[in-house]
Amino acid sequence: MDARVETKSAEILDKSIIRNLLQKYLKELSQFDVASQSDDEVSEYEYLDDYWTSDNRYPFLIIVKDDIVGFSFVRKLENNTFQIAEFYILPDYRGKCIGSRSAVQIFNQFKGVWHVAQGEKNIPAQKFWRSVIHKYTDGNFEEERSDEQPRGVKQIFNNDQSITTSIDELHEKLKKSVSKDTCYEPQRHLWSDGNASLGQCYVTTLIVHDFFGGKIMKAKSSNGISHYWNRINGKDIDLTRDQFPTNERFTDEQVLERVNLLDNKRYKELKRRVRLLK
Ligand SMILES: CC(C)(COP(=O)(O)OP(=O)(O)OC[C@H]1O[C@@H](n2cnc3c(N)ncnc32)[C@H](O)[C@@H]1OP(=O)(O)O)[C@@H](O)C(=O)NCCC(=O)NCCS
Repeated sequence: MDARVETKSAEILDKSIIRNLLQKYLKELSQFDVASQSDDEVSEYEYLDDYWTSDNRYPFLIIVKDDIVGFSFVRKLENNTFQIAEFYILPDYRGKCIGSRSAVQIFNQFKGVWHVAQGEKNIPAQKFWRSVIHKYTDGNFEEERSDEQPRGVKQIFNNDQSITTSIDELHEKLKKSVSKDTCYEPQRHLWSDGNASLGQCYVTTLIVHDFFGGKIMKAKSSNGISHYWNRINGKDIDLTRDQFPTNERFTDEQVLERVNLLDNKRYKELKRRVRLLK
């Protein structure tokens, strides 16, 4: 079917239509939850009103030939990161490329880093999003575990071409952007163009995490200074490793939470420079 799909911002007057669709959606999703929900619980959706009052939430109706066939909620998080909070196509309209077309229309409206999560047991949704995002990004996305709601997996990709589309590309941009003033203060007097990664590990790790997610790792180097790097899909990505000798030994390895890490001035400046590079 060559459906003309329209994804349009939902007005406040559309709220009752969305509430109706939400009930069907939550009921369907409850089959994938460990704890099954009663009908009463299903009818409550804590954030419904926020979609018409908050600047960081966007409600959409999905329409085909004047018929409302689904809805979607998008959230904007910090640092131009976006999230598909909810996404639903009515059963009668599935398997007709409506969901995939609407998803692309939504992605195209918001440029930045996207996080799209699916519950552990919602295998159809996992297949759907993997397929859509694979086509949309030409395979240029990461997938990792999602430990927030919904717990399961999440795909992460960046559709802002002015930022960067791959870790290699980001690495090149970081190499062009680091300088003495983005170096960790206690090491600044040792920084030089020849050892440009020195003292850049913390800010580099935060920026890689902003774009590609994964885990933030920390360990102690032999000089007693903490070293930071990323672990994405179980693979260590350490873009500032070359500041250490190849036989450097790190101890006290830890996984850190992004929320506990400060967006310091050096990080903001480095990110600003990376964004400016085409
Ligand atoms: C998941 C959902 C949005 C799919 O919508 P849809 O309009 O049927 O999807 P499309 O027809 O655009 O399919 C796009 C791709 O996803 C795949 N796909 C869609 N539904 C699938 C399913 N149930 N099982 C396996 N693959 C599926 C299609 O095969 C297609 O892949 P292809 O292009 O490689 O052939 C819809 O089934 C739905 O609303 N489900 C209930 C709510 C839900 O789980 N939402 C997601 C919450 S994270």
